Amino acid sequence: MPRRLDADAAGIEEAAARLRDGEVVAFPTETVYGLGALTHDATALQAIFTLKRRPLDNPLIAHVVDGEAAAGLTTLWPASCDALAETFWPGALTLVLPRRADVPDEATAGRETIAVRAPRHPTARALLDAVGAAISAPSANRSGHVSPTTAAHVAADFPEADDLVILDAGPCTIGLESTVLDIMCDPPCILRPGSVTQTELEGVLGPVAVREGGGQAHSPGTAVRHYAPRIPVSIVETDDLPHRLPRIMSPCAVLCFEAESVPAPHRPIVMPQGAGDYARRLYDALRQAESMDVVQIVIESVPASNDMWRAIDDRLRRATASEV
Ligand code: TXA
Ligand code: MG
Repeated sequence: MPRRLDADAAGIEEAAARLRDGEVVAFPTETVYGLGALTHDATALQAIFTLKRRPLDNPLIAHVVDGEAAAGLTTLWPASCDALAETFWPGALTLVLPRRADVPDEATAGRETIAVRAPRHPTARALLDAVGAAISAPSANRSGHVSPTTAAHVAADFPEADDLVILDAGPCTIGLESTVLDIMCDPPCILRPGSVTQTELEGVLGPVAVREGGGQAHSPGTAVRHYAPRIPVSIVETDDLPHRLPRIMSPCAVLCFEAESVPAPHRPIVMPQGAGDYARRLYDALRQAESMDVVQIVIESVPASNDMWRAIDDRLRRATASEV
């Protein structure tokens, strides 16, 4: 099993030393846990792909302390990026920009662009300060599985990785992966929705587009089926729950808003009513559902009343999609 390290000064120093030695380390961000290696260490980056069993064409996000460090990885840093960094960094916004030639192919999966983000989590920032360099990190889950929002989730996905250490700072506060924005499109285009919303981005940039249907070509990690539990998942509208659930004979785990709407033998997992709380809870609830000895997960549909709910709905739809 991986070893958990407290995210205190000694833990951060050990994690930083391992990164400098070319190892892979799992660490918390405010969105989800990441599996990181130094951006300029091609061999260590290869180890991330191997450990995750990540397709080699799926590029990584480089984590940096600020806009200046981000601009050090890119050939362009338009004024709009300064404005975005000033407003949203540190935070859950990832920007896609043309990469510098000295960035290894492994960091971008051979693309001419690189995704950069300055995380807000104090442990992530302390780790970045300690290594004094960018850290490339995808979410610290097995490729295609649900993203991890606790150190225990990371350990559960890599039980055989005895050499892996996980900096443990408790549950992530946002719980949904960052918003990915391609800044080179006109208008700039959201490749993956997240807690930094289209409306907020438009407040800084003017019109912003949202790529529909997963954006596979531009952002391979947004393939339709993604973020998925290991058992089938379906979404049922609130009004349909009373008709649909009694017709399913074998027990399901049901992510719902009211336990009363779930008849036996199905097993309710009651979700928070607010979008922020729901996002924080979602991936843990999906992992809990997987472990419940049920054959199927049913998710009560969520409102579409704001951008955050729409980002949540995006992840739910990816968890249910049957295509790969
Ligand atoms: O919140 C997050 O973004 C977390 C934490 C650890 O920072 N990271 C994360 O990484 O979710 P990952 O690898 O699971 O998702 C990165 C997404 C993928 O959809 C990937 O395709 C996209 O960002 N991406 C990365 N580089 C890209 C690029 N050059 N062009 C387009 N999309 C890119
Ligand atoms: Mg991921």
